[in-house]
Amino acid sequence: MKSKKGSNTNKKPHPMAKSKLSGQKFVSRGTGLHIDSNLYSMWRTEISKGKFIDLDRMRPFQSFYALSDANPDQKLKDGGLEVVPGFHLYAEEYFGFLPDQTSRRVAHLPHSTKFKGREDTWILNCIRKVQRMPENWTPYTLDTAKSQDLHELIQKSRRLVTEHDKMDYIPIQRGDFILWDIRLPHQNSDANDSDTIRSVFYHAYLLAEPQEINIKTVKDILKSRKTRDHQPDFNKKWTDIEKQGLDPLPELDTPFTKMLYNVEEWDVNVGDEIISRFGNLLTDKHIAFYKQYGYVVIENMIDSNICDQLYNQILSHAKFCGCDVGSLMQGGLITAEHWDKIGGAFGAMVEFFWLPIQEQLRLDERAYAVTSKLLSETWARNDQSFSCPFADRIDPRKLWLYNDRVNIRVPDAVIRKMQQ
Ligand SMILES: [Fe+2]
Repeated sequence: MKSKKGSNTNKKPHPMAKSKLSGQKFVSRGTGLHIDSNLYSMWRTEISKGKFIDLDRMRPFQSFYALSDANPDQKLKDGGLEVVPGFHLYAEEYFGFLPDQTSRRVAHLPHSTKFKGREDTWILNCIRKVQRMPENWTPYTLDTAKSQDLHELIQKSRRLVTEHDKMDYIPIQRGDFILWDIRLPHQNSDANDSDTIRSVFYHAYLLAEPQEINIKTVKDILKSRKTRDHQPDFNKKWTDIEKQGLDPLPELDTPFTKMLYNVEEWDVNVGDEIISRFGNLLTDKHIAFYKQYGYVVIENMIDSNICDQLYNQILSHAKFCGCDVGSLMQGGLITAEHWDKIGGAFGAMVEFFWLPIQEQLRLDERAYAVTSKLLSETWARNDQSFSCPFADRIDPRKLWLYNDRVNIRVPDAVIRKMQQ
């Protein structure tokens, strides 16, 4: 979920704001189904209707560390990630079959596509929870030939969802790393009916080669690190909240960490060495699963203790900022005004970027190795399912960081009770 750029914090509250302090409006309704790229123009950035510039952002994958366990009940909405499995294979073709609805679907964000049309109704029945790959999983023969018409495409897409339904459900656990395709429709479920807080840390990478695509973004990110500011991509309202109450971030002191922030030019030998140590976390079966469903879960990639530490750091810094989210689960009370000190939609995103353990996990070699290896098997290959006009210029070992936020999703029942 993206926030609008640069909202004015001094603006008077809208008259409706008060009514949001009561009733169901406190409860987060999730992000709504969307894709994190512009499917009408994947390889050029459309800054306004019909006006294009060279591509100015590419994260080859979206990804996060799970900081909490998903609920074991597949049918229960637990606030977690849901996707339309396999649709990445057909996404570009799908939007080509539809009438041009760029302004309605892409709205003001040049790197996002929404599902809004009546013709999208079918896809709402194809949304599934992400899950771990079962031991006995075997790939399905993919049909990637061009479809004659929309009807054929929908049938192909549904077939993959049916395959996905055949798997035993194995919920994600804290410590898992989840990657998904930039063409895959996804959302956070529209409710958290579980009795636990759902939490994740979004952590992804930018292509460092071709350099011109992401150079401005990585420079902004490095600049933000020095001052602990938030990046221009996100809401400016909370930009100062991490400047107090935290120890200074450690210096970047290894070639690898310096290269991730573009302080040093990439030395691919360093990348090769890291991939040789950790690349095996992503198996051939994981890669096949990713190609089929557009997402994959790397099980137990980091220790669950470090997830707990980051989760506790989120809660303790939230408390420091005047929003004691942690107390909610013990029957405590916070208000929308409290929540407003740390983040957007109540019960969802928290605007923390620079907590010490967030930064520690960003600099971890394992996520880098897995991402790099998956990139070498997908976009850098330029095969039928991952067709990229500059594939021959991608070096999968050269990656920069894309720094993102953490998420806390309080059970809806807790919020409703608080409102009574
Ligand atoms: Fe998204």
